[in-house]
Amino acid sequence: MKTSKIIEETESYIRTVFQQEGSGHDWWHIHRVRQLALSIAAKEGADMFIVEMASLLHDLDDWKLIENNGQKSGKALNWLIALEIDSTISKQIMDVIEEVSFKGAGVETRATSLESKAVQDADRLDAIGAIGIARTFAYGGHKNRLIYDPLTDPVEHQSFEEYRLGNGPTINHFYEKLLLLKDRMNTETARNMAEGRHQFMSLFLDEFFNEWNSIC
Ligand code: NI
Repeated sequence: MKTSKIIEETESYIRTVFQQEGSGHDWWHIHRVRQLALSIAAKEGADMFIVEMASLLHDLDDWKLIENNGQKSGKALNWLIALEIDSTISKQIMDVIEEVSFKGAGVETRATSLESKAVQDADRLDAIGAIGIARTFAYGGHKNRLIYDPLTDPVEHQSFEEYRLGNGPTINHFYEKLLLLKDRMNTETARNMAEGRHQFMSLFLDEFFNEWNSIC
């Protein structure tokens, strides 16, 4: 199968799966990550096919979206097998997907290839800024979390297990993850893009607490 056909088929599969996803991981998140990852990849000289495929498949087996105690469901790999992708390339795509996910403030998530760096950066860019704010509250609502609770302090999760089971209010998530992302970008391209998005989140938090403190 031609690579353009493979991408087309994968896109339509993913569009169907993530069409009505209400936790901020809908099809348009996948699409934005793909666009961001491809533009980072082009600037950084990464393999475009691997980056595009990994971006499209990156949330298919994500632990956040699957209620099975963090176990992988293997859908991405099965899809690559069904498309008869060369096993070396398939392995590279799977390695990128494996490395994308943020697993807690104190847990190191290494991106070992240029492709992995591009997709990880793209996913992190979509988690910050105005879009990041919107997605964070969508995810909090999906998990029945409070918007904010002044009696619950943010936690710097030291293990993936601790992070996975954390159920603090959504505002805490800015301190536990989102505000840390700017300094955890892998590429210069993403670091530059993260700057404005980071500033916007800080502005949002300032205003949030101004309003909160003037009435509570
Ligand atoms: Ni994602």
